[in-house]
Amino acid sequence: MAQQEDSLKKIISHCKEYGFIFPSSEIYDGLAAVYDYGQNGVELKNNIKEYWWKFMTRLHENIVGIDAAIFMHPKTWEASGHVSAFNDPLIDNRDSKKRYRADNLIEEYRDKLYAKIDKEVEKAAKRFGDKFNKEQFLSTNEHVLKTQAEIDELTARYDKALNSNDLEELRQIIIDKEIVCPISGTKNWTEVRQFNLMFQTKMGSVSDEQSTIYLRPETAQGIFVNYLNVQKTGRMKIPFGIAQIGKAFRNEIVARQFIFRMREFEQMEMQFFIKPGTEMRWFKYWKTMRRKWHEALGFGTDNYRFHDHEKLAHYANAATDIEFNFPMGFREVEGIHSRTDFDLGQHQKYSGKKIQYFDPEMNESYVPYVIETSIGLDRMFLSILSASYCEEEIKGDDGKTDKRVVLRIPPALAPVKVAVLPLVKKDGLPEIAEKLMKDLMYRFDCRYEEKDTIGKRYRRQDAIGTPFCVTVDYDTLKDNTVTVRYRDDMRQERIAIDKVADLVSANCDLNNILKHLADEDIALPEE
Ligand code: GAP
Repeated sequence: MAQQEDSLKKIISHCKEYGFIFPSSEIYDGLAAVYDYGQNGVELKNNIKEYWWKFMTRLHENIVGIDAAIFMHPKTWEASGHVSAFNDPLIDNRDSKKRYRADNLIEEYRDKLYAKIDKEVEKAAKRFGDKFNKEQFLSTNEHVLKTQAEIDELTARYDKALNSNDLEELRQIIIDKEIVCPISGTKNWTEVRQFNLMFQTKMGSVSDEQSTIYLRPETAQGIFVNYLNVQKTGRMKIPFGIAQIGKAFRNEIVARQFIFRMREFEQMEMQFFIKPGTEMRWFKYWKTMRRKWHEALGFGTDNYRFHDHEKLAHYANAATDIEFNFPMGFREVEGIHSRTDFDLGQHQKYSGKKIQYFDPEMNESYVPYVIETSIGLDRMFLSILSASYCEEEIKGDDGKTDKRVVLRIPPALAPVKVAVLPLVKKDGLPEIAEKLMKDLMYRFDCRYEEKDTIGKRYRRQDAIGTPFCVTVDYDTLKDNTVTVRYRDDMRQERIAIDKVADLVSANCDLNNILKHLADEDIALPEE
């Protein structure tokens, strides 16, 4: 656990030091759970968006994009159920005056039980060496069985309490399990209360005429209320999808773990409209599709897993999370939900407008069902940074052992693709480097650097994940070649200066990943 916290801390400080992410309004000591993306962060973020947008809208002929406003008619949120049901269970510790999510306290307690089992397994594996049989150990070891029984009993009780919104029972679990406040160390808990996560503001300048409106807590509703507009003007035939990238806001009770849980964040959501009765097939289809999108980045399939929901949101009849192995363990990065006709049906009811699709094949009209894919851009950003962050021991220029921090970001997503570095600031080398820079900058995000030793400049580029450094030196004057230095293995090779663009393009083109994904034909599964 301490090691995990340590690696998250390292990533946070690296993000700040190298211009990826800063605390918001830092000169005023920051604003809790709000962050600003810096010069390198914004490039990485834009590249992630491009990867998602192109995959969704270009690789799927039947998916189009929109960009809806953040402010929406307040009835939207009554219809969607957010006014009445978008709540988290809140509990305070009377001694520390700290506020927690009751469900989080219980889940953390359960995580500790799982960690206990993992430790037993680790110890036994060490003790028995090659002879160790994990399955057998898990099903026979007395300590493991006892802990597993506690987990099962707790899970059943917890799920029941959540499903029936039984706040008293949630509190009782906290009391029974003797869960203490991490700050005060006491069990002096208040009642559990529901807390609505939507931010409110007022619209209109005259106070009598002001109306309360909300900052959207998800981008999805902007898609639902535009369903008819897009379907009609785009002459869309079911099945079809609408994709959107945009900001969402939630007044999270406990916002922590850096950009994992923020109060202002960005979502990339797609609502796929389908014929009622086909939803389980499309749900499975999008589960496979979305997982492939993640895995195509090459961080290893073991770093992802599905978590199917037992407790379903008020709008869903099936839901799963794609979880990523973050420094703090496996956590949700994307949700895939079968939302039935709940949202369109509700908007039809609240607006009084008919929101239906005439199906020419069936010769009848219906309210379409929806499969939603919803990924948090900031969480995706954190997953990429945590999988890419690497500390290595290397031999320095003087032969001594040195340390380098390298971000092994997939080249297509790297904020800077190529750095152009004249070996020295004289003898015509900067002029050649500047010319090369000018040739490259239309095609790639490039950096030009002439300050410090070449070793230091390589380290700086490693730290922001630049896949290629190109050094212009005295040999360039003679034969028009440059040294290309590869980020991952630090290999160096000489190539003709006019071949640099082709090399960078061949390795950093996002289309390579997209093409690979497009070539994998994924059929709609049978029932
Ligand atoms: N439209 C469905 C929806 O919003 P969600 O599971 O609440 O579903 C979808 O959110 C995704 O948005 C999550 O998988 C997560 O990546 C991201 N997300 C949700 N709350 C977040 C927060 N407070 N900070 C950062 N990302 C968040």
